Amino acid sequence: MDAEVRRLEEELQADLQKANTAEDIEALRVKYLGRKAVINQLFAKVPSLSGEEKGKWGKNLNLLKNKITSAIEEKIKGLGSAEDKIDLSFPAKKFDKGSTHIVSVVSQEICSVFEKLGFTVVEGTEIENEWHNFSALNIPLDHPSRDAFDTFYLDIPQKNAQNGKFLLRSHTSPSQARVMNIIKPPLAVVSPGRVYRPDQVDASHSFMFHQVEGFAISEDINFAQLKGVLLNFVRLFFAPDTDLRFRPHFFPFTEPSAEVDISCFICKGKKEKCSLCKGKGWIEILGCGMIHPKVLKNCNIDPKKYRGFAFGMGVERPAMLKYGINDIRLFYENDVKFLEQF
Ligand code: DAH
Repeated sequence: MDAEVRRLEEELQADLQKANTAEDIEALRVKYLGRKAVINQLFAKVPSLSGEEKGKWGKNLNLLKNKITSAIEEKIKGLGSAEDKIDLSFPAKKFDKGSTHIVSVVSQEICSVFEKLGFTVVEGTEIENEWHNFSALNIPLDHPSRDAFDTFYLDIPQKNAQNGKFLLRSHTSPSQARVMNIIKPPLAVVSPGRVYRPDQVDASHSFMFHQVEGFAISEDINFAQLKGVLLNFVRLFFAPDTDLRFRPHFFPFTEPSAEVDISCFICKGKKEKCSLCKGKGWIEILGCGMIHPKVLKNCNIDPKKYRGFAFGMGVERPAMLKYGINDIRLFYENDVKFLEQF
């Protein structure tokens, strides 16, 4: 009897140590206190013991049973307190899921306004060749923008000599030539993307920035329609009471050409100290014009049959105007504190 009780106690201690979950403890309870528990077999032996032994073992086994019961209860309590440590009311950990970059947001905003006006979005390529970037667009060989100081030329062998050297495109206008060679009019396209110029970086210049090119070609398109499209754009993008001003300008790829200003949406031209327009009342935002007949011809579209208008604008500048950002470098530093505001 002595040895059996000792073995039972040792086994119980070992089992208690191993039991970690509610299921483990339940298994323990069944094993040590259940109907088939060893202790019950020991109790069954008591009546056959001699007088003195009977009393002793009856008492000892009862004490042992109480000990087992309280050890198991103790274990259950321990488990409960471990579970209590998980506070279900505690606020969840913040999950930083990131967001679309402000330049992409504004580029998409610009494109989606033009989509509402019937334009389709088509992306060009960032690595261009001289033909698409300059020649097709009627930019002559001696034009300053072709200079090595104004364009990033790439040292990649060109298979088709007619296309000239490879370069990082200096504007999104080459998308005009790419699209016109594939899609035939009538067409209305906007083309967003990055452009590159070896400019000194300062608060308003960067060697890489973004533009959106737009153009529409049909048999009877005219300058009035260009004005209508741009007026709709600025009213939807900036503010419903925005006005436009066209100033004559020169671009090799459009004739006539114009630069376009919007009325200052902060002071409406009324404040000399306006931080945005400095009291001028107007802010320059884009270039535009009627597509030069030579450009249509270069891209296999009959200039006698078709006309087109085109416009090109930066993305960073409208973004700075609309969101009150005063330094272009903020867009590229990618400081999360700046980016997460938008
Ligand atoms: N490509 C010109 C630039 O980067 C912008 C431009 C002006 C585009 C007039 C046009 C346009 O399509 O008609 O400065």
